[in-house]
Amino acid sequence: MQGKYLSLAPLVCWRSSPRPLNLRALFGRQAPTVLEIGFGNGEFLVRTAGAERERDFLGIDLEWKSVRRALRRAAQEGLTNLRVMQGDARQMVERSLPTGCLSQVTILFPCPWPKRRHERHRLVSVEFLGLLRHRLRSDGGIWIVTDFEPLLQQIQANAPAAGYRTQTRTVPASLNTKYERRWTLEGQQEFFESWLYPEGPVPPAPRPAEVPVRTYVVKDFPDRWNLPETVAEGAFRVQFRDLVFDRERQKAMVRVFVVEEPLHQDLWIELTPSEGAWHLRPASGCVFYPTRGVQRALDALHETFDRCCRR
Ligand SMILES: C[S@@+](CC[C@H](N)C(=O)[O-])C[C@H]1O[C@@H](n2cnc3c(N)ncnc32)[C@H](O)[C@@H]1O
Repeated sequence: MQGKYLSLAPLVCWRSSPRPLNLRALFGRQAPTVLEIGFGNGEFLVRTAGAERERDFLGIDLEWKSVRRALRRAAQEGLTNLRVMQGDARQMVERSLPTGCLSQVTILFPCPWPKRRHERHRLVSVEFLGLLRHRLRSDGGIWIVTDFEPLLQQIQANAPAAGYRTQTRTVPASLNTKYERRWTLEGQQEFFESWLYPEGPVPPAPRPAEVPVRTYVVKDFPDRWNLPETVAEGAFRVQFRDLVFDRERQKAMVRVFVVEEPLHQDLWIELTPSEGAWHLRPASGCVFYPTRGVQRALDALHETFDRCCRR
């Protein structure tokens, strides 16, 4: 059991943190902040934070397993200048990071999404680079290293429209990340490094409005519970997938996909006992953004729940 190495101290849970974050309060000091997006197993993030104690490091990764590995490494090093968040960097940066707070953004070997129909998932879109421009200090920069030449070409094409000038060169392997080692073992000897420096006026980047999510308290637990039909209303679509229904323990969970372009959310909603009644709410520990679509999912589940109880 390796749990003894795990400390949750560096973990920032966006749901219980102020938005935007107060980085000074978060790190307990005022220092230049580096954001690493997609830190994978966290080895570069933790190594760099250990070597550069005068700077603060914030890592964001989509996957919980990446966060868990980084937490374990960070605890072994006893770092105080490192924080990590789990989630889609596009949402985290948009919702949680204040204007002009970053001295550097690091993106090492981002997912290439080589298929044309998947290109929209790439992190180097004009929109996301423009958002990062808004969160960067004017003397800051974005550092991107990739093994995939089409991604480099996309960076060069998109950077000017997002408010940057670029410097690009090929570099040998030197970062010793998991993916750099992987591509090196497969025979790749040169990688593409880009630095993006802010230029010109800062583009506007309004923060999306948050909807206070209304949950339900119900008096009965039904004998069965049917999933609602897909809800497709104007700007959003809500699909109900898996139902985990435990009559004996009087608990139920439903997996819900909420699409409000460009945001795609995959969350669980739970029905759990609470003070002599049952609470219908987003499952504790699940990462979601409070939007109209999430509220619609809760409303629709409550409607079917009501119908099942009346039968
Ligand atoms: C190819 S791996 C590279 C990992 C690491 N930088 C390395 O060099 O070994 C890409 C990483 O980016 C993360 N990722 C992909 N899309 C992301 C997003 N939208 N927001 C945050 N992290 C993302 C993945 O979970 C994965 O850990």
